[in-house]
Amino acid sequence: MSPAHSVVKGSRTLLSLPCRPALFTAKPFLSQCQSRYSSHSPMGSSGPNQRKKVTLNTLRSLYKKGEPITVLTAHDFPSAHVADAAGMEIVLVGDSLAMVALGMEDTSEVLVEEMLLHCRSVARAAKTAFTVGDLPMGSYEISPEQALETAIKFVKTGRMQGIKLEGGLEMAPTIKKITAAGIPVLGHIGLTPQRQNSLGGFRVQGKTSAGALKVLEDALAIQEAGCFATVVEAVPQEVAALITEKLSIPTIGIGAGNGCSGQVLVQVDMTGNFPPGRFIPKFVKKYGDVWSESLKAIEAYRDETKSRSYPAPEHTYPISKEELAEFERALETKAV
Ligand code: KIV
Repeated sequence: MSPAHSVVKGSRTLLSLPCRPALFTAKPFLSQCQSRYSSHSPMGSSGPNQRKKVTLNTLRSLYKKGEPITVLTAHDFPSAHVADAAGMEIVLVGDSLAMVALGMEDTSEVLVEEMLLHCRSVARAAKTAFTVGDLPMGSYEISPEQALETAIKFVKTGRMQGIKLEGGLEMAPTIKKITAAGIPVLGHIGLTPQRQNSLGGFRVQGKTSAGALKVLEDALAIQEAGCFATVVEAVPQEVAALITEKLSIPTIGIGAGNGCSGQVLVQVDMTGNFPPGRFIPKFVKKYGDVWSESLKAIEAYRDETKSRSYPAPEHTYPISKEELAEFERALETKAV
């Protein structure tokens, strides 16, 4: 719905009417249209975003300059909007969506169709960030053809610009297939949460020399296969830094220290949008306390509604004395 078509919330019958000046009012047309912004208006009025669209070239030049690349997950329109406004270079619709937005036990449950719905809402808000959608478990491991088919859905239906998939050397043919079709692929090595059962849980990877060599082997293989960058998850900082040095594509660390070419976090974790007591991994830094802020606001709304101090007069719409008197007379005479 365009802003010009959004009208006061609750006036459902007016929702599809174009914005027109109401009769008997001195307000100019434009200001009336502006005053009709409502919570239906998706982009709100956060002002024009000055940043140029982030492309693979932008990412490459940040990497060459040695400037860390910022990546954050988003799972819906508002979380993508704020990530984009804050200047994230990549907005990732991670399959962490399953747990943090859909309340599932783990990421293995989320379906392609569910991911696509969220990708579409993120794509509508992430106007300048480069957008990447995570292929969920079961949607790409069977064959490179299956993976390409899913990746195409993420671009055509999900409106993503690139995809992410988990795995190292064994995924090289799949990555080749997808990148050959012109779809940028972000790799994901180290701890690969979709394989938590075979890894024996969410375990740090590359903690031994042999383990670290395996992560390096995976990194080199997916670089060779065409990944434009790779997530490196839960790997000792020194190992991640040495792997980063050996590569010619950016590494995006999560739980891998600050020697990577960029960082990624799950948005709800870093904004503190979860109740006290919830487990968060060691590598997460809580930059905000959205849970407490939301709780405070909703409790205040509850209290003011119960006490009838909300809505106050400034939250209501006026009617002229004459019209009100006529309405009251009509109520008396029509016995409604
Ligand atoms: O699913 C996800 O959000 C991810 C990032 C944490 C890298 O894979």
